Amino acid sequence: MTANSQTMKETAKQSLKSRVKSNLSLNNLYHSILKDLEKVEKELRLFTESPNRLISEIGSYLFQNSGKRIRPALLLLCSKLLGYQGKENIFMSALIETIHVASLIHDDIIDNSEMRRGRESIHSRWGPNITVLLGDYLYIKALGHSLRSKHREIIGILTGVSARMIEGELKEYCWSRNLDLAEEEYLDIIEKKTASLFSAACQIGGVLGNASEGEKHSFVEYGTNLGLSFQIIDDLLDFTADEEVLGKPIFSDLSEGRITLPLIYTMNNDGGANRKRITNILKERNLTKDNQKEIIEIIQSNGALDYTYKKAEEFSSKSREIISQFPESVHREALTLLPEYTLTRNK
Ligand code: FPP
Ligand code: MG
Repeated sequence: MTANSQTMKETAKQSLKSRVKSNLSLNNLYHSILKDLEKVEKELRLFTESPNRLISEIGSYLFQNSGKRIRPALLLLCSKLLGYQGKENIFMSALIETIHVASLIHDDIIDNSEMRRGRESIHSRWGPNITVLLGDYLYIKALGHSLRSKHREIIGILTGVSARMIEGELKEYCWSRNLDLAEEEYLDIIEKKTASLFSAACQIGGVLGNASEGEKHSFVEYGTNLGLSFQIIDDLLDFTADEEVLGKPIFSDLSEGRITLPLIYTMNNDGGANRKRITNILKERNLTKDNQKEIIEIIQSNGALDYTYKKAEEFSSKSREIISQFPESVHREALTLLPEYTLTRNK
């Protein structure tokens, strides 16, 4: 990396950091559910216990490096917010995380991503054939286990959200390398591929906690807004993050042709010369370091990074507003801090 491109990257990072109000840690945020989350981890490991060597080997690789566990946390917190005292929320949290993990290992094949969470992705280690099968296995196992619940509604939520996520991925794929993608269509893609599972986690917490129709509606809205904010920051970090902290290479969205909000803003608001330049750069399949530097310079100077962050902030504050209508409790506090965490995270 040249000294100049290093400086550009630093400036981009600084500009994101300067907006960060506090450094929330998930461990602190999860303090009211830490014991439950440990039980979720145990449950997750049980799902891939198998005499089949590949299932157990890949399963332990997958679950030994714990992710953020946001979806299980949402499910636990939403059920507890309504006073739920049972144990089914542990099991359901493990199911929702399994669906998430299954979707990511498929996503990494689709996106040609070699790294995830600082390690080789499943397909780069075991190859795409085994990875597709393992993803299918996890996904079918999760749905099959959900039949153990007496709540039929939950099975409907899980199958519905799975179809929605696939629709989101397909739509994203159809729009790849297409710079005519409108902001509205982008939001529809990320609502389907990401926010729908956040929303489903909250909804299932609501079903377990015997939520009223009004409370269910609030959970759907809370989860959707939080998920939108989360994915917008994910897309922003793809331009601005520190690769070592992020655990995967930056600029991978653009390298694979995924058009996200900073580029959409640029195509709609920047002058003709920059739009033309970006169009030409994207015609090349391989983005050079100089191309990356040039794109960062353009989206930094035209306000696209600021605009993108503000959009994430808008969704984040909508979700905080919705949850503030519930009675005060430690669980509400955690659900209020999660939208803030999505804005301050650096990985
Ligand atoms: C990550 O997005 C991907 C998703 C949030 C959804 C993936 C969904 C599927 C592959 C559909 C299959 C679903 C099931 C239930 C089996 P990203 O690529 O923007 O984020 P990343 O940088 O973390 O990869
Ligand atoms: Mg991906």
